[in-house]
Amino acid sequence: MNPTSTTCCSSKSQCGCRGTDVTTSAPQRATNEFGDPTGWLTDGTVAPALDLGQWIETNRPLMKPPVANKYVYSGKDFFVMVICGPNARNDFHQTDSEEFFFQIKGDIVVKIRDKAGVRDIPIREGECFFIPPNVPHSPRRGPGTVGLVIERRRPANEQEHIIYFCPGCGELVHDKAFACQDIVQHFAAAMEEFWANAELSTCRKCGTRITKPQPGTNSPGAC
Ligand SMILES: [Fe+2]
Repeated sequence: MNPTSTTCCSSKSQCGCRGTDVTTSAPQRATNEFGDPTGWLTDGTVAPALDLGQWIETNRPLMKPPVANKYVYSGKDFFVMVICGPNARNDFHQTDSEEFFFQIKGDIVVKIRDKAGVRDIPIREGECFFIPPNVPHSPRRGPGTVGLVIERRRPANEQEHIIYFCPGCGELVHDKAFACQDIVQHFAAAMEEFWANAELSTCRKCGTRITKPQPGTNSPGAC
């Protein structure tokens, strides 16, 4: 909200203010150390409910590939993100934390790797999906899709994995483990670092190079 400027009173003698303009700022949502919005207002009160559809419309231009996510709430125990397609990812994410997906608009696919191997799990508009801990997953979000993802704040000693399997032979190409305090910034940086490094991103078994995908070019369908 922008500061609003009002005139204190119409009669200059009424309150002794001489009719000067009084500028007041409505309290805004307080942010954490990464600049992400919390459930508090800057005046220390609890933030009121927000219109999620309106929030998405306002923030949509700020959500950009590769992950295209933004915090709706970034709290102490968990965080809530909206993730828009198209993303541009060819990694698998793995963490000891659980993840909850709700698909607001459009259908997506999440590739997962469990004891049955790698397979596609479609999440259609209106459906939800729960990823148990330590399941490698690779969400593929097509253009125009909008999803909600809720995850827990990672304990200090918990590591994230960004894992790349060779699209040619299925061999593990790279497994980057790191402490991810801020998933919006750190994820994208780790991916860019991998794609830019020829040695890291080339399969040692068959020589296939994993390159940066263009938004919307991976199979239809972040975290
Ligand atoms: Fe994830």
